[in-house]
Amino acid sequence: MIEITPATASGPGAAAADAAPCIGVFDSGLGGLTVLAALRRRLPHARLLYAADSAFAPYGERDAAYVQERSRVLTRFLLAQGAQMIVVACNTATALAIAELRAEWPGLPFVGIEPAIKPALAARAQADGPVGVLATSATLASGRFRALLAQHGAGARVVLQACPGLVEAIETRGPQAPPTLELLRRFCQPLRDAGCTSVVLGCTHYPLLTDAIRAVVGDSVRLLDPADAVAAQAERLARALPAQTRGAGLLAWSNGEAALLLRVAEACALPIEHVLALPQESPEAA
Ligand code: DGL
Repeated sequence: MIEITPATASGPGAAAADAAPCIGVFDSGLGGLTVLAALRRRLPHARLLYAADSAFAPYGERDAAYVQERSRVLTRFLLAQGAQMIVVACNTATALAIAELRAEWPGLPFVGIEPAIKPALAARAQADGPVGVLATSATLASGRFRALLAQHGAGARVVLQACPGLVEAIETRGPQAPPTLELLRRFCQPLRDAGCTSVVLGCTHYPLLTDAIRAVVGDSVRLLDPADAVAAQAERLARALPAQTRGAGLLAWSNGEAALLLRVAEACALPIEHVLALPQESPEAA
């Protein structure tokens, strides 16, 4: 286990670093690293714990009970490691499970992520084309997403595109593998054909494919990724957390391929050097 400690931890800034909040972050796999990177930018002195549930991905083609169970297991695991807040860095788990998590842990702060429909529509000009939404099948079918669309998208032209198989391709072959990119192109083409002028990245895996998405939909199309807004919310909530004494750090656990996680983390400018084995169940659940 390697813990990355900012330079200030042993210098004059040591007191602030020692009071680091401890934030647990999970996703079905590699996608949440895009949110973790935003969290690290906003909270460089926090202790960030990341759990990648790659062996159980994709969530987006599973039912609610499955996603809720995995979300509970990962939350228990992160709490056992000292997390004081949980960031659900997965649109699918937010849509299908965050209400259940909040009910099970009423005192614990949770931050979720959802497709950036509201900012996409708010920023639209009269002459703009439709808003495209790329997301998992489960997110698009969820009541939470339907409610979001009804609340903010009434009368707007929105093109919904599910991407079955895409998360699996990223998890098994990597984001830059030719079959992954080929699949991505197939899902992006309808958005291009519809003349979309903005595209909501409604799954945390998809920002890993930003260049390839741009190559299909065009450079002038606005891509919306809410990772920084999620990190800003976590930053606000972190101010209310009691200070911990374990200091800053960046730790990652995975039940999938560690080498791929390290490659993707590097691409996200996350200095993760080792990946720990994520147990199948948390100690309390066993
Ligand atoms: N990163 C997850 C999301 O944001 C992927 C879901 C999946 O595993 O299919 O929805």
